[in-house]
Amino acid sequence: MAHAQDQILTPPPSNTIVPEKVRDGVDLEINGRAYRHTGDAQMPLLWYLRDVLRLTGTKYSGEHGQGGYDLVLVDGKLASATHMTVAELAGKSITTVEGLAAADGKLHPLQQAFVDEDAIGCGYCTPGWLMASLDLLNRHPQAGDNEIDQLPNLCRCGCQTRVRRAIKRVANGAHA
Ligand code: FES
Repeated sequence: MAHAQDQILTPPPSNTIVPEKVRDGVDLEINGRAYRHTGDAQMPLLWYLRDVLRLTGTKYSGEHGQGGYDLVLVDGKLASATHMTVAELAGKSITTVEGLAAADGKLHPLQQAFVDEDAIGCGYCTPGWLMASLDLLNRHPQAGDNEIDQLPNLCRCGCQTRVRRAIKRVANGAHA
């Protein structure tokens, strides 16, 4: 009498169509869209965004995330895309700078304030500032200088003063 294992190992008749196995992967949601990553689950989120999805707004920020260039929101909380693997983000909701504007292309109030205050130089730091200031205003809707000074972001083009004005514009309701 055949064992159960023998039955599994028996090949199906040649005319049987065997459905392809659904590939294992990590399911995540990015900017409201569902993705399944079937590659290396230990890939840092930063490289998944940039190299796989071509969402290149999130920038390399050194191995320690200095300067805040790699910031995103994970389940609404500010996080470094360098320091999380795709596997760690299974089932989580991620927002990148590409997810800030409305579907019709209308800029997020913070984006518009950065434009209006001319707070963008080369632009390398801008996505990180936007994500950090969004997180700040979610926690402190009327944030002032003290709270803005706590942000981890750096701008090598010297835009800090204009960035500060942009964030305060939104905090004061000028772009509500
Ligand atoms: Fe160039 Fe900030 S605009 S680093």
